[in-house]
Amino acid sequence: MKNKFKNILITGGAGFIGFSLIKELCKSKFNIFVIDNFSTGYNKKFPKNVHLFKGNCKNFSTFEKLKKYSFDYVVHLAGVSSVEASFDDPVSDANSNIISTLNVLKFVKEKKIKNFIFSSSMCVYGDLNKNVREKDKTIPISYYGISKLTSEEYIKFYSLPHTTKVVLRLFNVYGPGSDKKNTKHGMVGIYLNQINKNNKVVVKGKLNRFRDFIFIDDVVYLIKKCMAIRNKSYNIFNVCTSKKTYVKDLIKKIFEIKNKNPKISVIKSTPGDQKGIYGNNKKIKNFFKIKKNMTSIVVGLKKTV
Ligand SMILES: NC(=O)c1ccc[n+]([C@@H]2O[C@H](COP(=O)([O-])OP(=O)(O)OC[C@H]3O[C@@H](n4cnc5c(N)ncnc54)[C@H](O)[C@@H]3O)[C@@H](O)[C@H]2O)c1
Repeated sequence: MKNKFKNILITGGAGFIGFSLIKELCKSKFNIFVIDNFSTGYNKKFPKNVHLFKGNCKNFSTFEKLKKYSFDYVVHLAGVSSVEASFDDPVSDANSNIISTLNVLKFVKEKKIKNFIFSSSMCVYGDLNKNVREKDKTIPISYYGISKLTSEEYIKFYSLPHTTKVVLRLFNVYGPGSDKKNTKHGMVGIYLNQINKNNKVVVKGKLNRFRDFIFIDDVVYLIKKCMAIRNKSYNIFNVCTSKKTYVKDLIKKIFEIKNKNPKISVIKSTPGDQKGIYGNNKKIKNFFKIKKNMTSIVVGLKKTV
């Protein structure tokens, strides 16, 4: 009997978003292939239908190992995922984000893969200090923002006549499964970890900064929706809630849910930190005719804490 399972390649599948996506896709008929170099991701208990390839996407040789398979989808999540880390090592950031994306594109072209999804970031907008839409200016203020924006441009330019290209500009993703040990990426995870360990929160940068926090289940839901697009063109979407949350209110809500009152200390902000940004999600909601709101920060935090 014909195998009705679809093949999907997820780069960065050992990371927070990648592994959450895998857990969801495992409920349906997918053969899942993962490439990860385990730089920030770690070896979780992968389900049986996951084929794991350890390797760095910055080297095309990593993809050679997968040449004998055909793929219906590629979700490209691998990359350095931290503004702070991009200042520590801009070369590593560029290799992991720009060069890796070029290699994935080459593989997508060679294999004539029909659907390609890329995780970009709200960092491409820089400090616009407003509710941003996809057509707004992009003025990144970090190496990470530059490398995500450059990747977007390569994706747009790259000739892939057989492929639907989807760029998702993710805002601050949080939820169960985020790496609590990571101290340079993921505000909610960082604060939760600090509270659990020391009953103290150290905030890098002002408390009146604001962000758009999107719950992981909504991100996975939207990635799955995008996997069904077959328009063979370039699509770009904000992935956000359209709600602004101040850092001070985020911390207050975590305190309330945890029923704790830890000490807060505020230290100097890190380079490239945007003061305030939140997104407009009308484009993706209209595209998929989504009526419901994204998960509220209170509900999402309760599920996370
Ligand atoms: N989490 C967020 O809030 C957020 C926001 C905007 C964009 N993004 C983007 O979404 C993607 C996934 O983010 P995440 O939160 O799951 O991060 P993560 O760090 O948990 O996952 C990234 C995964 O990619 C792997 N990786 C990194 N560089 C690699 C390389 N060169 N070759 C192979 N594997 C590599 C890591 O080991 C890790 O498993 C990243 O590209 C990130 O930039 C995330």
